Amino acid sequence: MICQDLVPFLTIIIILSSYNPFMPHSSLMKKKMSITSSLFLSSLEVPLLRSPAAPFSSHVVIGRGVARAVLASEVGLTKPADPVFPEIAVRPADLEVDKWRGDILVVGVFEGSLGKFEEGGFQNPVLKNLDELFGGILGEITTEEDFTGKSGQSTFARLAGYGFKRVGLVGLGKLEAAGSSLKVWKDLGENIATHSKTAQAHSVLTLIAQSKELSEDVKLAAASAITTGVLLGSFEDMRFKSESKKPTLKSLELIGMGMGSNLEDQLAHTVQKCAGVILARQLVNAPPNVLIPSVLADEAENIAAAHGDVMSAKILDKKDCEALKMGAYLGVAAASTNPPKFIHLCYTPATGTVTSKLAIVGKGLTFDSGGYNLKTGPGSMIELMKFDMGGAAAVLGAAKAIAAIKPPGVEVNFIVAACENMISGGGMRPGDILTASNGKTIEVNNTDAEGRLTLADALVYASELKVDKIVDLATLTGACIIALGNEIGGMFSPSDELAEELSAASKRAGEKLWRMPMEEGYWDMMKSNIADMVNTGGRPGGSITAALFLKQFVDEKLLWAHLDIAGPVWKDKLGATGFAVPTLVEWVVKHSSS
Ligand code: BES
Ligand code: MN
Ligand code: ZN
Repeated sequence: MICQDLVPFLTIIIILSSYNPFMPHSSLMKKKMSITSSLFLSSLEVPLLRSPAAPFSSHVVIGRGVARAVLASEVGLTKPADPVFPEIAVRPADLEVDKWRGDILVVGVFEGSLGKFEEGGFQNPVLKNLDELFGGILGEITTEEDFTGKSGQSTFARLAGYGFKRVGLVGLGKLEAAGSSLKVWKDLGENIATHSKTAQAHSVLTLIAQSKELSEDVKLAAASAITTGVLLGSFEDMRFKSESKKPTLKSLELIGMGMGSNLEDQLAHTVQKCAGVILARQLVNAPPNVLIPSVLADEAENIAAAHGDVMSAKILDKKDCEALKMGAYLGVAAASTNPPKFIHLCYTPATGTVTSKLAIVGKGLTFDSGGYNLKTGPGSMIELMKFDMGGAAAVLGAAKAIAAIKPPGVEVNFIVAACENMISGGGMRPGDILTASNGKTIEVNNTDAEGRLTLADALVYASELKVDKIVDLATLTGACIIALGNEIGGMFSPSDELAEELSAASKRAGEKLWRMPMEEGYWDMMKSNIADMVNTGGRPGGSITAALFLKQFVDEKLLWAHLDIAGPVWKDKLGATGFAVPTLVEWVVKHSSS
């Protein structure tokens, strides 16, 4: 056993000493060049301080041992600044509120818990004590602002003469609903993050007025969701602003949510999962002149370099892919000056036997212009098509989290066929016939349906790894956004078992997936009179025909699911969401042997 106190130091040592990220992997293994082009996103590390006295903390080590960015693309001369990860120590606490010294006390309040006696004073003992402590201010603000504890409501007051500066009440909605929905807890966390920003707070203490009425399981899930809300809500992507501000919040203490190693382990996973979500957000937010395929590949190598004990990286370049006959993927990549990079990370636990082998495949179009079927017109969103590597970002975010969590008994392959969909004299034309690595031929009737072409070869590659299950994620179709909107991902799978697993994982993760039909009859729309198939079947059922296309490239003997995340990958005003990282982490961890 390694002493946990050493973890931060060990991490630094690992980054410094394992710069050659390649473990023996295959004959296609390449020698690492001495200068990498890197956005230095994933080289930030988040080890946990786990000594009994130390809180859960995110500890940042940026870019050690990794050469600074030398980008192949010089369009616009932009060099991102170092990313800032929220460094917030989260710990369960067991103390009297009046003994606490800090900035903000936040109290979560359910609807109906604000009842007052006729002579005044709250019936709820926690609120009653606090109100007395603060000279009746809680009674006053709840009445004045008609605060009833509905979700979405919050009220904060400035205090004078106490050990802390502010007290806030945040509505949690109905107590009965709190057990089944993680959203109310995550919202509470986001609320804490927002108020901490406004008030420039360094430390927050949180308690729930009726925490005694919550089961141990609910408290565990709630503590984790609050932490997620605080960490993700505190993150702001400042890398591309000429002036940046740092988040002020450094410490979050939770009262009444339990104590002990179970909760500590849970919070540790949560912090690691959030680091994965933040990496995914950074990757998707990065502009397409900066985040080109080689930079995405470097980010993958950085993850392996930081976790050399469990993760290996293999990057195939254009020649390697030609040798593997990946004609569909290379057809898409043909028009670009920036070369394609096929990324394969492999997680294997350091000890013990592997009982399940998984693959997670992500669409990695660092930019999708549409190609000759150029994205024109106001609804085409060409200016947002940097997010067309949202599947790849989820894959790398999950890889980062899994490498840190280190689940036993499961091997996970993380695969991305990264490229750009551009236009040039050497590019793929509408009407071209491509030959994929499984020998199937594809008539390209629309160059803008490129994601499925890149995924075709990536799915053949994943199938050849003899894994038990494959999940692919892709910002694949506008049709899926029309069907499900911006908050729900479409799930397609011939396997009820895998669909059920993913659906359960998404619920534990607080994300939304909806299973869509794989209507075999619709394959008629994909028939070509000259090749084995066309790549698009027209507008009706556009996300279904896309899924049927992918199915042609998956070994039928293994379980496979496709997640169309075109909607939830991006949110107006916020930008990248990091969607699907939490679900993937839950799904993988469920396969671990302990
Ligand atoms: N990357 C797009 C899908 C997309 C569109 C995601 C809008 C998010 C917002 C994909 O490559 C694409 O262009 N799909 C086409 C397919 C069509 C040509 C059959 C689409 O959805 O319009
Ligand atoms: Mn496209
Ligand atoms: Zn695309």
